[in-house]
Amino acid sequence: MNRIHHWICRSGWWKKFLAQDLIPWALDGTAWGGCVLEIGPGPGLATALLAPGAQSLTCMEVDARLAANLLEKTDRGKVRVLCGDATAMALDSGLFDSVLAFTMLHHVTPAVAQDALFREVARVLRPGGLFAGTDSLDSPVFRMLHWFDDLEPVRPETLRQRLTAAGFDRAEVEIRKREFRFRAWRARA
Ligand SMILES: C[S@@+](CC[C@H](N)C(=O)[O-])C[C@H]1O[C@@H](n2cnc3c(N)ncnc32)[C@H](O)[C@@H]1O
Repeated sequence: MNRIHHWICRSGWWKKFLAQDLIPWALDGTAWGGCVLEIGPGPGLATALLAPGAQSLTCMEVDARLAANLLEKTDRGKVRVLCGDATAMALDSGLFDSVLAFTMLHHVTPAVAQDALFREVARVLRPGGLFAGTDSLDSPVFRMLHWFDDLEPVRPETLRQRLTAAGFDRAEVEIRKREFRFRAWRARA
């Protein structure tokens, strides 16, 4: 992530937005919980909000420094932090009840890597398990925030079909002003 992202993802403004708006909207009406995997936790502001609602929480962060910092500040009894790439996770299949991803998919480039991530998420979920999260909509401001950063915006109108192709048997995508949310359930068969 570039400097501006590091700053935003640690800010009080982002913390309040996650707590009062983005995460409640993302998870509203879902039965998330149990054994949870969060991919792309960054500095961990969402992690702190999710931990109380999970039986156990594993975080998979690709950036070694962010993963080390998160490990330092988390309750190790409940939260496990792993440094790794969510497109190829060194985790057994069917381990998790829920996988959550907030504002991270657009950092996974190129689009085929996003599809690999969707397949990996389906693999580590138990049959019927939930994959839910959000990402930002493409816009000139969004592109400006990603100067000198990895960026592959996700087109929400294509996401349902991409999730189904990756092994989810039901997927829902809802768009609002600046973000979209998605929910998908791993096929049972
Ligand atoms: C914009 S930050 C979002 C952080 C956090 N989810 C939040 O909402 O505050 C995106 C995070 O995803 C991580 N990330 C990007 N690609 C990843 C991958 N392939 N596997 C795991 N984490 C990844 C980045 O290193 C970064 O920490």
